[in-house]
Amino acid sequence: MTKAALLLTIAVLGGTGKEGKGLAYRWAKAGYRLLIGSRSSEKAVKVASEIMELLEGSSSVVGTTNLEAAEQADIVVLTVPYSAHRETLENVREALKGKLVVDVTAPLVPPKVSRVQMPPAGSAAQEAKEIVGEDVEVAAAFQNVSHEHLLGEETVECDVLVTGTSKKARTEVLTLVEAAGLTGWDAGPIENSVVVEGLTSVLININRLYGSKHAGIKITGIPDQSTEDA
Ligand SMILES: NC(=O)c1ccc[n+]([C@@H]2O[C@H](COP(=O)([O-])OP(=O)(O)OC[C@H]3O[C@@H](n4cnc5c(N)ncnc54)[C@H](OP(=O)(O)O)[C@@H]3O)[C@@H](O)[C@H]2O)c1
Repeated sequence: MTKAALLLTIAVLGGTGKEGKGLAYRWAKAGYRLLIGSRSSEKAVKVASEIMELLEGSSSVVGTTNLEAAEQADIVVLTVPYSAHRETLENVREALKGKLVVDVTAPLVPPKVSRVQMPPAGSAAQEAKEIVGEDVEVAAAFQNVSHEHLLGEETVECDVLVTGTSKKARTEVLTLVEAAGLTGWDAGPIENSVVVEGLTSVLININRLYGSKHAGIKITGIPDQSTEDA
């Protein structure tokens, strides 16, 4: 368990859903304090206790409303469907000042979720940045990691591309990626999230065509970092 994990509280807004619950489980297991956010505190409390049961340890996972979770957290992770993205952020905007927001949203527009349909801002993450304003750092990550991987103990083979409004924000999220047991890559500025979010529809299309539930991506060709000069 890292010192950072012991000190930090992560709110997962929409943490009652498939992706948020899986990420919360992995971070709680790594030693972070977790707040599960929901429109319904009762629903959040139930999911928090389900995660605690899975962990069988001394982890801290508490369920509450999205707003209270955002108010009490150091890092706020957003895992709601794109249709709820703007409203959820607007409802908690005041609680986000000075914090890091990690947007997991892929801007899927049903019923054609296997077709890339990006929002006018460029991407969901850029839209999030427009909503939350200047004094909030926004990073985007995990859009290409299926929830199917997250609640189990398995090693997750696919990689995570991290984009964000600053190097510092991306570095913080890369720490969260590692804590969740995955491999992350700094994929550059928040504008690059258009590619990462768009890949989700490509992966859904591949799932449909090839009978998979969790196609992912892997970056290749990187030299061993431990042998590189600093
Ligand atoms: N599922 C995956 O494998 C996966 C993989 C990569 C990225 N993602 C992205 O992660 C996000 C969440 O995906 P998910 O599959 O976890 O979604 P989900 O299970 O359908 O929903 C997550 C949570 O969002 C909240 N929510 C749903 N509809 C809402 C609405 N109209 N207004 C406000 N809140 C609403 C609900 O929480 P409450 O009812 O408790 O408020 C729900 O539990 C999406 O943007 C998706 O693109 C998902």
